[in-house]
Amino acid sequence: MAVDMELEAVLRAPEIPQAKYPPKVITLANSKKMVVREAERRDVPILLKAVKPTMEIDRDFYDIVGARLYAELLGWYKHRVRNEYCLIGQIDGYVVGIVNGRMVNKDIGMSYHTLALDRGLRVGSHLFASKMEHHIEYLGQKEVWITAESPIGFRRWMIEYGLLEQEGIQHELGGANSYKLTREIYFETKPRLVAGTRPVPKRLLEQAEKEILVADEETITEKICGVKGR
Ligand SMILES: CC(C)(COP(=O)(O)OP(=O)(O)OC[C@H]1O[C@@H](n2cnc3c(N)ncnc32)[C@H](O)[C@@H]1OP(=O)(O)O)[C@@H](O)C(=O)NCCC(=O)NCCS
Repeated sequence: MAVDMELEAVLRAPEIPQAKYPPKVITLANSKKMVVREAERRDVPILLKAVKPTMEIDRDFYDIVGARLYAELLGWYKHRVRNEYCLIGQIDGYVVGIVNGRMVNKDIGMSYHTLALDRGLRVGSHLFASKMEHHIEYLGQKEVWITAESPIGFRRWMIEYGLLEQEGIQHELGGANSYKLTREIYFETKPRLVAGTRPVPKRLLEQAEKEILVADEETITEKICGVKGR
C-alpha cells in the first residue's frame, strides 16, 4: 500500500497554481442564456458521459475530437496531465459545449479541444473565445498555441482570429501546423469575438452549479447531425 502511494506520487503530474475563470453569461442567437464556467476535477465523470456519444459520430470530425477530449479529461481526473483546465457552457443546466487546454508554463498556453454539443448557435465559437480570454486575461499568458483538426475549426479559429502560423513549432496534439494567438491579436479581436457579461445572475449560476445535466445519446446525436438539407 505504502509502495503504491509512493509510486502514485511519482506518476502524478505536478501542477502550478492557476487563476480561476470567473463565470459569465452569454445570450445566444435564439435568446437562450449560456452560462460559461470552469469545471472542477470532480465534474469529469459527468462530462465524460456528454463526450462519449460523440466518439461514434463520423461527421465533421466529432469522433476524433471527442475521443481525444475524452482522454484529456480522464487524464486530468486521474492526475496524468499537467496544469489542465476545462470550461463548460450550460443552458438550463445542460452541458452544451466543452473546451479545455493547459498552461505549458507562465507565458505559454496550449489550447486542446473545442466541442459543441448544440449546434447552429456558435456555442463552440463562444467557448473557444472564452478559452482565449482565460489564457490571456486570467492566466495572464503571453500567447496561446492552437492547431485545427477540422475545416470548421480552421475557419473559426485560424481565419476568424487571423492567427499566426508558427515556423518549426510542433503543437502538443501532433498533427497539423501550430498557430498562435498573441495578446495583441486577442485584444484586437476581443470586441468582435469575445462575448458575455458578469456577474452571472444568482439564479442562473445556482442552476448551473447545482447539477451538470447531460442530454441523452439520441438527443446529442440528433443535434450534431440533424441539420436540415445536409
Ligand atoms: C468546430 C466547432 C466547435 C464549432 O462550433 P460552433 O461555432 O458552435 O459551430 P457549429 O458546429 O454549430 O456550426 C458550424 C457550421 O456547421 C453547420 N452545421 C453542421 N451541422 C449542423 C447541425 N446539426 N446543426 C446546426 N448547424 C450545423 C452550421 O450551419 C455552421 O455553418 P457556418 O460555419 O456557415 O455558420 C463544432 O463544429 C464542433 O464541435 N465540431 C467537432 C469538433 C471540432 O471540429 N472541434 C474543433 C477542432 S479544431
